Amino acid sequence: MEREKEDGVSLKAETVWMDGELRPWSEATVHVMTHTLHYGYGVFEGIRAYQRADGQSHVFRLGDHIRRLFESAHILGLEIPYGPGDLEQACVATLQANKFATGYLRPIVFLGSEALGLGALSNRVHTAIAAWQWGAYLGEEGMKAGIRCKISSFNRLHVNVNMSKGKICGQYVNSVIAKREALKAGYDEAIMLDTQGYVAECTGENLFMVKQGRLITAPYGSSILGGITRDSVLSLARDLDVAVEERLFTRDELYVADEVFLCGTAAEVTPVREVDDRRIGPGRPGEVTRMISKAFFDTLTGNGAAHPEWRHTYQVG
Ligand SMILES: Cc1ncc(COP(=O)(O)O)c(C=O)c1O
Repeated sequence: MEREKEDGVSLKAETVWMDGELRPWSEATVHVMTHTLHYGYGVFEGIRAYQRADGQSHVFRLGDHIRRLFESAHILGLEIPYGPGDLEQACVATLQANKFATGYLRPIVFLGSEALGLGALSNRVHTAIAAWQWGAYLGEEGMKAGIRCKISSFNRLHVNVNMSKGKICGQYVNSVIAKREALKAGYDEAIMLDTQGYVAECTGENLFMVKQGRLITAPYGSSILGGITRDSVLSLARDLDVAVEERLFTRDELYVADEVFLCGTAAEVTPVREVDDRRIGPGRPGEVTRMISKAFFDTLTGNGAAHPEWRHTYQVG
């Protein structure tokens, strides 16, 4: 079924896993009174599957994504009616049912439509996993030449307001308004500061800068999502003997960085060539960004032998 095109990529899929079974796309629907649709009390994940140079398909860090889904639910006090192993199998089954050798997976856990009061303690907890083909989230050109970012006028919410370690549906309003503001102003992505003014992350990506050969990113304990790609980048940097610092930094430090890049499941590793109309370094992807990006894609789509533990292999058809 072809629903729409996004970034020139057809969003085609036939089958969605929902509440324990594979269903045709058109039957994986919810009622307008769905509690989570109104209040955002639900959790989700974004996961990518890749095909390596030898043709072998794999889901990238599937176990870590499913673990984070359960952690997000735990933060909310939401009981997922399946075990992690069940959902790992369901992710693979969804890719296989759609005959996807590569693709993007979107597991979501949400409350049903039985009651619309806020507490809704007895509402059924639903679980669904959709899959589709998603190209470079920030555009093929952006991946090559770098993107343009704007510091958002919206802050990441305070750590005692948003639970930043969870991928919680309703929290993404903060990201959506920032992203829409940046797009409407002609930029590719928004950079979010925390409530103290330190650089946190982007709307759906973690952020790294490079200064004099050192890779610097906001600490895990700040108001950022603990990105699985961020963690992969830190590991690859250590493999490559690139010095790493996890610390707070301000927007002006970003302006004078030698290199900046974003990373996330959707965005993968995307270089940034401008922040607030200021050129970063020479205005094109720098050496450390290119090294990290190469190591990243070697493990995903190449034939790099490093980190086999990140690849959950599966057969298509
Ligand atoms: C707010 C936010 N930060 C960072 C990330 C990157 O996380 P990951 O690399 O696990 O996809 C995401 C995407 O999941 C996100 O939504």
